[in-house]
Amino acid sequence: MATFSMTSLNGKRIIVVGGSSGIGFGVAAAALESGAQVVIVGRSADKLKAAEQRLAGAGRVTGIAADMADEGDVARLFDAVGAFDHLVATAGTPPPNDPIGETDMHFVRQFVDGKLIGTVMLAKHAVRTLNKGGSITFTSGINKDRPPVPGGSVVSAIAGSFTYFARALALELAPTRVNIVSPGWVDTEMWDEIVGDAKAGYFDQMGARIPAGRVATPADVAPAYLYLMQSQFMTGETLHIDGGQRLV
Ligand SMILES: NC(=O)c1ccc[n+]([C@@H]2O[C@H](COP(=O)([O-])OP(=O)(O)OC[C@H]3O[C@@H](n4cnc5c(N)ncnc54)[C@H](OP(=O)(O)O)[C@@H]3O)[C@@H](O)[C@H]2O)c1
Repeated sequence: MATFSMTSLNGKRIIVVGGSSGIGFGVAAAALESGAQVVIVGRSADKLKAAEQRLAGAGRVTGIAADMADEGDVARLFDAVGAFDHLVATAGTPPPNDPIGETDMHFVRQFVDGKLIGTVMLAKHAVRTLNKGGSITFTSGINKDRPPVPGGSVVSAIAGSFTYFARALALELAPTRVNIVSPGWVDTEMWDEIVGDAKAGYFDQMGARIPAGRVATPADVAPAYLYLMQSQFMTGETLHIDGGQRLV
């Protein structure tokens, strides 16, 4: 008799929206290592092709270009994939960071469309073809717990809303499980886009403060996603994986 209960990912079909870069790339790599078949999704076909080559998943990785802010794209994505076992979404773009009095509403709407409305659309269309026993995992982040001041209010509100979206969906979609991963800072391409060459300095400072002693890599946070896919008893939960960053 088994001493613990975790389902295997071997042979499972997993969609990783955001899998061409950063945290999603790390999840795709870990899922492939666990024997899964992985579909990575992003807007740029070039980025997907490069990621497919880097992942070298022995024929088990496929890229599909889709914009999660576009419902037509999202519907076509799930039609193309057909039946699958787990949906992971890590996709996102750099958030608004202006003080509230200088907020660019066009940028905020774009960000909400991509991150929050896009997530709702993924859930809406995923349920058509998600296999029984499967799971959905979305991504929020440390900004809801340790908001940058000033400029963190919008991203904090959106990241915080994921927790409540997952709790309600976990009830509605049961026994399908719905969870959130909330990472601390992770060294990804997004940081290069936001702060460029200043990244090393920011990471050294944060690494010296947090209990883990350094900023995470995608490989550090990928196990949280794998755990939520595999544990049959985790649902409606927000799993923080931040090296203790919320404590400092
Ligand atoms: N890195 C961190 O420190 C950190 C910490 C906490 C939370 N997070 C959150 O985690 C998420 C991922 O961050 P990351 O650092 O992994 O970013 P990243 O390296 O920039 O990767 C983002 C991925 O999402 C895809 N993407 C973006 N917008 C999309 C859209 N509308 N439709 C489909 N795919 C889209 C990108 O591909 P395309 O550009 O080709 O679409 C790329 O594959 C973000 O929401 C971020 O806020 C990050």
